Amino acid sequence: MTVNATRHNAGASKSFGPFTVSPLPDATFGGRVELANGRSGARAFIETAEADPGLLSRALYDVEGLLFLPGMDAISDDPEFLLRLSRLFGAEVEDYSQTLIAKNMTHPSVPEIFIVSNIEPAIKLPPARPTPPLTESGELPTQFPHRRGWHTDQSYRRPPPDVSLFYAVIPSPEGQGQTLYANGFAAYDALPNDLKAQAQNLIGIHVMLGAGRSEYAARAGEAPKPLEAHQQPQHQPVVRTHPVTGQRALFLCEAGQMDWVDGPFVGMAPGANGAGAKLLYELMTHYTHPAFTYTHNWSKGDLVVYDNRSSIHAATWFDSDAYQRLMWRTTTWGNPGPDYDGEARSWIPK
Ligand SMILES: [Fe+2]
Repeated sequence: MTVNATRHNAGASKSFGPFTVSPLPDATFGGRVELANGRSGARAFIETAEADPGLLSRALYDVEGLLFLPGMDAISDDPEFLLRLSRLFGAEVEDYSQTLIAKNMTHPSVPEIFIVSNIEPAIKLPPARPTPPLTESGELPTQFPHRRGWHTDQSYRRPPPDVSLFYAVIPSPEGQGQTLYANGFAAYDALPNDLKAQAQNLIGIHVMLGAGRSEYAARAGEAPKPLEAHQQPQHQPVVRTHPVTGQRALFLCEAGQMDWVDGPFVGMAPGANGAGAKLLYELMTHYTHPAFTYTHNWSKGDLVVYDNRSSIHAATWFDSDAYQRLMWRTTTWGNPGPDYDGEARSWIPK
């Protein structure tokens, strides 16, 4: 499949008031944000942004849903900085004690912070290395199915969250533990007409991790686990219209967060060998084409802001036996768009 790799990022840096947004390397979306007045550090950045609260989210939408803010190191000593930044991207910063997140995965005193770490008590191990570990040309593989683990955060809820902020307290070493991002607007726009038409009214079935409904569980013949009412798989449109920009984007996950028992798609033959699975492979292979992806190599103090309504991401391997990694994540909630008008939160126990 040929794809159109030219997007807005062919251009130069742009000004958003006191901020400069420059293109990310080797990517057709996203931007690196820095203060243009010579000031640096999280405090100056946040105080400047709060003076015009809509500015950073406008920058986020202008570059199609991915911002990189370097030098935010002060967040590590003061998590409130992360919450203040998060509030600039959504009406509500989610309290993870109210969601389906396990308690050991949240910050001990700031329940809005989800911990991604191989350090106790969180103990989230990195994904395995892909097979083979590199592409034929010696690159880090990004494209599904060579690369696994692509998802949008907490898509197993209705409404799903809007924007995530992901911050490196202790990053994995250079060349390991990257985060890959893919642009759902560009992937949707570049779909061949027949697939675009097929995707248009398609409904995906998303499910939380550990429910025994992943592709791996389905292929291994595992029995699905009993789920409470508030943990049930949720239907999500495969094509979402962005509530702010009106652009259409693909909204999908793959092996782990789709329901491979009753899905992955409503109305198509279910299971790992069904017609739905075949279509999901085709769509995800397209979505994660290198023309639509960006690889972030983390340094201490990096913050990446990404729009879950229009992008997916995946983690890469790092040597968890040799290194510790500690990342903090917040999510904002409250503007999922007309597909979810007036809905109660599916994840709150009745
Ligand atoms: Fe994620």
